[in-house]
Amino acid sequence: MVVKDVYERPLRNLRISVTDRCNLRCGYCMPEEDYVWLPREQILDFEEISTLAEVFMDLGVDKIRLTGGEPLLRRGLPELARLLAGKPRLRDLALTTNGVLLREQAPALRAAGLHRVTVSLDTLRPERFSALTRRASHAQVLEGIAALAPAGFTGTKLDTVVMRGVNDDELADLIEYGRTVPAEVRFIEYMDVGGATRWSIDKVVSRAEMLQILERRYGRIEPVVEESTAPADRYTLADGGVFGIIASTTEPFCASCDRSRLTADGVFYLCLYAQKGVDLRGPLRRGASRDELHALIAGAWGRRADRGAEERLRLRDRTPLVQIGRLREDPHLEMHTRGG
Ligand code: GTP
Ligand code: 5AD
Ligand code: SF4
Repeated sequence: MVVKDVYERPLRNLRISVTDRCNLRCGYCMPEEDYVWLPREQILDFEEISTLAEVFMDLGVDKIRLTGGEPLLRRGLPELARLLAGKPRLRDLALTTNGVLLREQAPALRAAGLHRVTVSLDTLRPERFSALTRRASHAQVLEGIAALAPAGFTGTKLDTVVMRGVNDDELADLIEYGRTVPAEVRFIEYMDVGGATRWSIDKVVSRAEMLQILERRYGRIEPVVEESTAPADRYTLADGGVFGIIASTTEPFCASCDRSRLTADGVFYLCLYAQKGVDLRGPLRRGASRDELHALIAGAWGRRADRGAEERLRLRDRTPLVQIGRLREDPHLEMHTRGG
């Protein structure tokens, strides 16, 4: 069974955040040093995550991505990967990580059955990395990326959030670096999500602008024609290279969005921009039956009318989605809680 929302969008893609903690402080996501963290006793254990994943699969989910915060900070993560990878209905099990702890963990994750890894990489310059993330871990990230192929991973992607005056002069360098990994690089437009309290429209480099920059260097760039619900549109360079652009800010893809999110403490969100979610931890811990959990999730998805990024696009004076004070009152509004 596949549940559909009010716009006939199926529920196929679940992003599971396994921790709200992170060992970096990226300016576009966690610019503060300290945060209000989710209480430890409320964090779902692996059995609970696995149970919920089954329920989601009954309703159509066949792609799961583990996110955070930084998911590799969650102790024993390969064990969760093993539990999930063993589910025959799952077509794709991926991980989004900042890469800092990847070198140590890549072999165990691969052995556990994780299919693919996406690493966030915003710059190739160590000093920029330190300024952007407030931690001097650039070398570790590059080592983590280099450890993927030897561990047996294919289909690696590198995600770059492009910001004006910060890293918009590195697009071609990142594409060239990607070839050596090998990995497909995706450039992401800076989004005004919760957590991005320093966002402003003038820092956004649009897809159109990125293509212009890259055409100056590579000549003609052709879009890859393909049917997909993935947020990235892919392009080919004249020399055969491929890269992606995720234009969430200037050209949102809400119309085909089949993704949902589960926070580390078991709150189900229908949209990256949603202000409220559905608590699944409470019912699960009170012993709700599989049918009851089905009803909760299917009911929420059936009523889903979210088109968060499109609504943001219609605003005239666009400022960050949530101000810092409200983020402190409700950490669920943070991108790092919701899973980037
Ligand atoms: P695959 O295509 O399956 O490899 O994964 P993905 O592109 O869905 O995953 P990834 O975590 O790499 O997502 C890339 C980026 O797209 C995220 O970090 C966000 O910046 C953006 N993104 C992810 N989900 C959403 C969403 O629901 N809405 C919007 N507007 N942007 C999203
Ligand atoms: N804009 C765009 N992408 C973001 N991410 C986090 N915050 C933002 C933002 N403000 C995404 C990035 C990062 C991942 C962990 O979350 O893709 O690589
Ligand atoms: Fe950076 Fe990801 Fe950590 Fe946010 S969760 S601070 S994007 S590494």
